[in-house]
Amino acid sequence: MIGVFDSGSGGLSVLRALVEELPEQRFVYLGDHGNAPYGQRSADEIYGLTCAGVARLFGLGCSLVILACNTAAAVALRRLQQTWLPARFPEHRVLGVLVPVVESVTQVSWDVKTASPAAGKTTGRVGIFATPRTVESGAYPREIGLRAPSVEVFQQACPDLVQRIEAGATAESLADQVAAEVRALQARAAGGRLDQVILGCTHYPLVESAFRAALPPEVAILSQPKLVAESLADYLRRHPRHRAPKARGQTRIAAFSTAEVKTVRDLGRRFFGETLAFCQIGETSAPAERRPALGAAQAPTTQV
Ligand code: DGL
Repeated sequence: MIGVFDSGSGGLSVLRALVEELPEQRFVYLGDHGNAPYGQRSADEIYGLTCAGVARLFGLGCSLVILACNTAAAVALRRLQQTWLPARFPEHRVLGVLVPVVESVTQVSWDVKTASPAAGKTTGRVGIFATPRTVESGAYPREIGLRAPSVEVFQQACPDLVQRIEAGATAESLADQVAAEVRALQARAAGGRLDQVILGCTHYPLVESAFRAALPPEVAILSQPKLVAESLADYLRRHPRHRAPKARGQTRIAAFSTAEVKTVRDLGRRFFGETLAFCQIGETSAPAERRPALGAAQAPTTQV
């Protein structure tokens, strides 16, 4: 199975796109609602929580996990891939959500770490809305700048947006706050035209209409979920061992949360468009009887 991890409900925006792009695959979603939001936590805390979440998904039978959380991907993914993963789970893989976005903005493959003459031709002014920790990490401007130095990047941290979305705020109720963040970003860009913006937190597409209403109509909003889904489809073509085709009678999505299931389930229905049977998973291990049926072939391989 393919694991999808986020600090909370934001990753559902990615899961929705993954299911649309890859309807035959089986997914396991884990929202760390019990520890959300991550965006104001220290880098070490985010790293520890991300490793714990990924380990749980591996324990549930996933060999591949998508970090559907920009904060975790920006702050923890590189360290996790370089140290923790090779030492603990050398056969498993963890991918993030920044790579497809950076490749789309720069039109340069992630494997290319320097600006080629062709990349120098890619220009534009890109705005990024993200959590404080993603902005502080500098991951987006760094990775875009490496490949396409002529692209201008402007970032805007939105401190409590994730918290309000997790509390159930609607796009309408967030309109004023989002409009203020948009004005602040425009001020950073010195009032100049922006070509496109990235909602660089997977929670924000859940209230995308508030961003759309506040941005000038000519500014494109790049769809991170769609880019991630296309990128995963390509990855699975190249790495078939991580494919997880659904057999007859198997559930397509198993959903877990580290918090009380009731509120999470309601939010999930709103954000995902269908009811996901969330199960609560504890600090160490979810009781087997409360886990959704994963199918014998995919029974947990390690304790979570
Ligand atoms: N969805 C996460 C992201 O993409 C939110 C992080 C948080 O919990 O603050 O950054």
